[in-house]
Amino acid sequence: MVTKLENEKRPPRAAESSAGTLTIGVLGVKGGVGASTFTLNLAAQLAAGNDLPVSPGCIILDANLQQPDLALLLNLKPRFSVSDLIPRLNSLSVELLSSCLTESAGVSLLTASDNISEALTVSPDALSQLLGAIKTLKGLPVCLVDLPKTLDKNLLTMLDDLDHLILVMEATVPALAATGKWLSILSDLGIDKDRLTLVLNRSGGKMKDVEKQLLNLTAKRQSHSLFKVVNAYEEAENAAIEGLPLVLRNSRSAYAKSIAAVCRHLAENPVLKEGPCRI
Ligand SMILES: Nc1ncnc2c1ncn2[C@@H]1O[C@H](COP(=O)(O)OP(=O)(O)OP(=O)(O)O)[C@@H](O)[C@H]1O
Ligand SMILES: [Mg+2]
Repeated sequence: MVTKLENEKRPPRAAESSAGTLTIGVLGVKGGVGASTFTLNLAAQLAAGNDLPVSPGCIILDANLQQPDLALLLNLKPRFSVSDLIPRLNSLSVELLSSCLTESAGVSLLTASDNISEALTVSPDALSQLLGAIKTLKGLPVCLVDLPKTLDKNLLTMLDDLDHLILVMEATVPALAATGKWLSILSDLGIDKDRLTLVLNRSGGKMKDVEKQLLNLTAKRQSHSLFKVVNAYEEAENAAIEGLPLVLRNSRSAYAKSIAAVCRHLAENPVLKEGPCRI
């Protein structure tokens, strides 16, 4: 299936950049596993750079074109969106791109438009050009891309262009099945263990047996790095109501510590160290 989609007309890949921002995609294995919450908190932790071997600064590209949630989680109403940049992609400058970012909690957000008909006109080619432009940004070491979960040309193009991918899972029966499916697809796409980090969200919950099966499933594949992010439902909801990332609300919580461990891993990954921006 992947090969068939890949063989269809794919847009040209964005020109490789030798400097600038490292792009890391975040993909939930299915809806509601916590990918956007994880993206926001990882971004806030990377932006703060507290006690981490990373340069501070992070941008989030909310590429969930049909349902962007990051602005909601940050209590923001951004003036500009990806759709404002589309007509200007051929002359896209760092200044123009920067002027479309909205800042909050140390994180710079570029969101998809909340107007669905505008958002649906964004093509794979446009996304590729946008990612290419983001890679040239100075002063923002990392761009986290909250990815849509539909395996279409937009997602395939972004998977191809991104420097690294984080796959977010949870211990439920549907997510277990979806994880197996995504691991096969990513392997078919040549996204190997050096380009892939696994995150088990809401770890330590009641579904111990499913969690064990999930860990067995991922262990059977290549030895991917896997991180557990603890269950913190009430804190996550309160943080969303306040529009403040959980890691900033309580930087000593078990949740914040699990996110910091992912940051340290990203900073230590040799492939990332040799990437366009050594964090
Ligand atoms: N570690 C966690 N512990 C407990 N609850 C969490 C955790 N992470 C996220 N949540 C909660 O899970 C719900 C879904 O989170 P989120 O919107 O981030 O998921 P998603 O994968 O981005 O969903 P969508 O498919 O809609 O994009 C939210 O209520 C959020 O507060
Ligand atoms: Mg989401």
